[in-house]
Amino acid sequence: MRIELTDEQQMIRELAREFAQKEVEPIAAQLDREGRFPHETVRRMGELGLMGIAIPEKYGGGGADTVSYVVALEEVARACASHAVIMSVNNSLVADPIHRFGSEEQKERFLVPLASGRGLGCFALTEPQAGSDATNQATLAVRDGDHYALTGRKLFVTNGREATVALVFCQTDRDKGSRGISAFLVEKGTPGFLVPKVEDKLGLRASDTAEFVFEECRVPEANRLGEEGLGFKVAMTALDGGRIGIAAQAVGIARAAYEASLAYARERKSFGVPIGQHQMVQWMLADMATQLDAARLLTWRAAALKDRGEPYGVAAAMAKLYASEMAMKVTTDAIQVHGGYGYIKEYPVERYFRDAKITQIYEGTSQIQKLVIARQLLDLG
Ligand code: CAA
Repeated sequence: MRIELTDEQQMIRELAREFAQKEVEPIAAQLDREGRFPHETVRRMGELGLMGIAIPEKYGGGGADTVSYVVALEEVARACASHAVIMSVNNSLVADPIHRFGSEEQKERFLVPLASGRGLGCFALTEPQAGSDATNQATLAVRDGDHYALTGRKLFVTNGREATVALVFCQTDRDKGSRGISAFLVEKGTPGFLVPKVEDKLGLRASDTAEFVFEECRVPEANRLGEEGLGFKVAMTALDGGRIGIAAQAVGIARAAYEASLAYARERKSFGVPIGQHQMVQWMLADMATQLDAARLLTWRAAALKDRGEPYGVAAAMAKLYASEMAMKVTTDAIQVHGGYGYIKEYPVERYFRDAKITQIYEGTSQIQKLVIARQLLDLG
C-alpha cells in the first residue's frame, strides 16, 4: 500500500498553499475581528479553480479528484477556517449534487457559474425543528402547474447572505416522510425568498450564516434537482461528501494550532530553558502531531474511496468524527502550551479554538456521525 500524493495532487496542494499563505493568512485575524465576508479572496479562489475542484472542466470546474480537493482545503483551512467553509459548502454541498443529480440544462445554468467561482452556492436543510432529525422538514413546496410555491423557514445556512443560488429541501408530500422530500435550486432575488437575519457567531466569523424565509416563493419545476421525493437522498449524498470536506477543514485548523505551538515551544522559556524541553509540553506536542496525522489519513482514505467509486459514507463519518474531535483537543492544548498568551487575541490560537468548535456540530454532530457508523456496524440500515 502506498500513501503518497500524485504529482497533480501535490501541484494542487502547492497552489492552494501558496495562495493561502500569501493572500489569506495575512488577513484572517482582521476578518475574524470585523466579521467581514472576504469577497476579494473568494473571487480569487474561483479564479484559481478552488471553488469546483472536483467538477469536470467542461462544467467550469478544475477536473481534479476528491483527494486534491481535501489537500487544498486543508491548506486554506490552516490559513482561515472561514474561507475553508465557504469553499467546502460550494464544492461539496452544492456543486457536487448538481453534478451528480442535475440535468444537462441545470448543469449549464447552475453548475458552470458555481464551479468557476462566478456564483456562490448554499445548502438549506436545517429548520428550527429539524437539525439532527433532518427528515422532519416543515418547509412546503406545493405544486401549481409548472411551478412550486415554497413556504417555510431555514436556519444556519452557511454562505446564506452571499450565495447566488440556494439548494433548498422541502416537503412535496407530507404523507411520505423522508420519501416526500424534494430538492430545489432557488435563485437569490426570486420574489418571496427573504434573508431576514445573519447570525453573530463564536467562530468562523468571516463566513456568513443566515436564516431564510420563503413566502409563497414560486420556483419553476425546471429548478427541481432530481425526481420528486428524491430530495432526502440528494441531501444525504451531498453530506456524505461534505463530511470529508469538514474533516479536511478540521485537519487544517488543528495543523495551524499545532504549528503555532511548536514554534512557541521553541522560543518561550520557563525555568531557564525553552518550554519544549519540558516533558509535559513534549507530550502535548507529540499527541498533537500523532492525532493530526491519524485524522489526515482517515480523511484521505474517505476521499480516495469516493474517487474510486466505492462506498464512502461511513469512512466520511469516521473522518469527520475523529478530525473534529481531534481539532477541538489540539486547539485546546495549543492554548495550554501558550499559557496566558493563548487566551488573548494577540496570538492566533484562540481563533483556532473558536473555529474548531463548529466542526463537531455542522454537517452532522459528532453524535450523528457515531449513529451513522454504528448503524453500519450493526447492519441496522
Ligand atoms: N445516502 C443515501 N441515502 C441515505 C443516506 C445516505 N448517506 N442516509 C440515509 N439515506 C436514506 C435512507 O436509505 C432512507 O431511504 P429509504 O426511505 O428509501 O429507505 C432515508 O434516507 C431515510 O433515512 P433514515 O431512515 O436513516 O433517516 P433518519 O431519520 O434515521 O436520519 C440521519 C438519518 C443520518 C440521522 C440524518 O437525518 C442526518 O444525517 N442527520 C444530520 C443532518 C445533518 O447533517 N445536517 C447538516 C446540516 S447542513 C450543514 O451543516 C451545512 C453547512 O451549513 C456547513
